[in-house]
Amino acid sequence: MVAIILDGKRTAQEIQKELSLKVKEEGIIPGVAVIRVGEDPSSLIYIRNKKKRAEEVGIYFEEHTLKENTSQDELIELIKKLNSNSRIDGIVLQLPLPKHLDEKRMLEKISPEKDVDGFHPLNMGRLLKGNPLFIPATPRGIMELLSRYLISLKGKRVVVVGRSNIVGKPLALLFLKEDATVAICHSKTKDLDLITKEADILVVAIGKPEFIREGMVKENSVVIDVGINRVGNRIMGDVDFKRIKEKVSHITPVPGGVGPMTIIMLLKNVIEAAESRKINAKLKQEK
Ligand code: GUN
Repeated sequence: MVAIILDGKRTAQEIQKELSLKVKEEGIIPGVAVIRVGEDPSSLIYIRNKKKRAEEVGIYFEEHTLKENTSQDELIELIKKLNSNSRIDGIVLQLPLPKHLDEKRMLEKISPEKDVDGFHPLNMGRLLKGNPLFIPATPRGIMELLSRYLISLKGKRVVVVGRSNIVGKPLALLFLKEDATVAICHSKTKDLDLITKEADILVVAIGKPEFIREGMVKENSVVIDVGINRVGNRIMGDVDFKRIKEKVSHITPVPGGVGPMTIIMLLKNVIEAAESRKINAKLKQEK
């Protein structure tokens, strides 16, 4: 059997059309500001892609580039300015930050209403309690992709390999909300292959090229590969796609799987932030 390819590129294009239409119909110009500190090469590529897609959808995009040696106070100053800028609905602080900056503290400076990445502790807490305001883009993209391919989650055994705040942890909560049974594994997990082999849905987000081999997955399972690893001038995922696709029922490719879904879900969050702002402004007027 050869797996059905979960085509994130095509799905993201479909969603992009829906979002463009929404922005036009509602007559809004949502705005997003992305802050980059330093010259992380992956960040440069991510931001370029975000900008391109945002502008195609009709979102106003602002990029703020700060020097590698920017102080915390300077960064906080910029975040505060963007928090009170009425043209901006969403603020993205591109990670990773240079080592001298306190990532946790900087993320907390973003107004929770503009935290379209969903990384503010208040938004992470809301997600934990099951009433999220903004769902982090990668986990939201994965859930959307599964939903559009009509993959049921209720009662399924889901194994997430990777426990980051950006992917693993929020994703586990989303699966739990859909009545799946979830295990989170990580670098210290013992007998990882025994656990991954039990998964009906296996999500891998650990950043090691082709770490998951064919013998580690269950037959007819669904495999979601979040990895984007640069090996020479190739991009490789965290799973051995070539062999595993012969064994499972569905699999995401890299590139063209989770990556495009992440960008489009970030833009969806920005549009939702703009919509809430519009509703709140109207309520204020009516008072
Ligand atoms: N760096 C890698 N992924 C992300 C993301 O989703 N958001 C931000 N802000 N930085 C990232």
